[in-house]
Amino acid sequence: MARLVIVSNRVPSPREVTQAAGGLTVGLADAIRGQPSLWFGWSGGTDGVDGTDPAPGITVQDNVTYATIPLSERQLKGFYQGFSNGILWPVCHYRVGLMNYSRDELETYLEVNRLYARALAPLLQPDDTIWVQDYQLFPLGEALRAEGVNARIGFFLHIPFPPEQLFRAMPGADLLLRDLAAYDLIGVQTEQDAGNLRGALRAVGVERPVGAFPIGIDPESFARQAARGENTREMGRFLDALGGRSLILGVDRLDYSKGIPERFRGFDRLLKRFPEHRNKVSFLQIAPVSRGDVAEYQALRRELDELAGRINGEWAEIDWLPLRYITRPISRKVLASVHRHAQIGLVTPLRDGMNLVAKEYVAAQNPADPGVLILSRFAGAAPELGDALLVNPLDPDEIAEALDQALRMGRDERVTRWTGMNTAIHAATAASWAADFLRALGETPDPRGAVA
Ligand code: ADP
Ligand code: G6P
Repeated sequence: MARLVIVSNRVPSPREVTQAAGGLTVGLADAIRGQPSLWFGWSGGTDGVDGTDPAPGITVQDNVTYATIPLSERQLKGFYQGFSNGILWPVCHYRVGLMNYSRDELETYLEVNRLYARALAPLLQPDDTIWVQDYQLFPLGEALRAEGVNARIGFFLHIPFPPEQLFRAMPGADLLLRDLAAYDLIGVQTEQDAGNLRGALRAVGVERPVGAFPIGIDPESFARQAARGENTREMGRFLDALGGRSLILGVDRLDYSKGIPERFRGFDRLLKRFPEHRNKVSFLQIAPVSRGDVAEYQALRRELDELAGRINGEWAEIDWLPLRYITRPISRKVLASVHRHAQIGLVTPLRDGMNLVAKEYVAAQNPADPGVLILSRFAGAAPELGDALLVNPLDPDEIAEALDQALRMGRDERVTRWTGMNTAIHAATAASWAADFLRALGETPDPRGAVA
């Protein structure tokens, strides 16, 4: 059987794959189940030495080989904190103004992609199909071709692709676009991303197939987790603390693309404009720290600390804390149950590739008495989840009005809306995402045929 090779900057541990935790992992774990696979990427370590190619660390579990290499401190800084997360990430999320461009970091990004290619090429077998994941690895396909790899190589971009003019404002953009020519198929999350990417490729004269393959979750397993976590001691303590108030829930990595300050302001506006909800609601925001070495993320953290303090200072009463803001990660089981108990899932990214949290919120609901999803129009999930209350996340008043509408919504309307969304998350799952992409990749002309 042909082997599937997955390349992603972060490689899950074998335990994470077995438990099929996060969205990307679930999708890919399903794809590799029952077929021999190799998963390649960064070890998470910085014990690499500049100028020396590290030997991959190899672990084998079941039918999957995990091969990872470390980076040097300098490489991590330039490639990961620098170009990937200080330049490409803001630009792809339509925030050119947040980009801190440096030619050095672009060069380190290209260098690390070549390093990955050199380490991966010797591990490949002739019949492999290679699937490269996400923005950290735009040039990897081209770097693999330079190493003589002529297998089919697919690429999937998990984050948005902005309009051509915006993307090409970034120095180095044309180079990355031309490198995409090395892939046999390029997948993105939505039709909008696909249109934008096609426009950008056309502008630099590259013709490659681009398709929209929206990623999903494993709704059944998440629903099971949500129901199972209900009777834990932690949930009991949490429900006691809630004291019967309606729960509004936000769950995101601490990232400026998620619109968390705007959401806090929306909640503040709710309390100001709709006094009947004071002391009747509790907003829980879970936002584990992410990319804490990047300046913009540090600034966001300071902003949120201040905002949370101000909101609680203004509205809290002796027996009521309006906003609970947690930056520590919490276990998935408890997280799923907290979703189930939330009357409102508040998901308001300013821009998001997909947003799996929105789909997880839907999956976790009790079908007989579901909560309401308030979702940003700018999340990749919005076209599929049209039964949510869709909002412009930049308008705190719109968020406040949607919160008020959701808090007053009757059960019949909640059930109707939830049923529509639940159908959508079952129609496109993590497993169908991977299967659809790999099928389409398998149908592209064989690059070896083209060479002969
Ligand atoms: P992104 O990929 O930008 O982080 P997504 O919403 O698409 O955003 O995916 C985030 C994933 O991480 C979801 O599966 C979500 O459940 C998980 N996650 C987010 N916050 C936490 C947390 N505090 N603890 C555990 N898992 C989390
Ligand atoms: C998003 C990106 C992934 C990335 C993840 C966590 O989901 O699309 O590529 O791995 O965020 O970010 P981190 O920088 O911690 O890998």
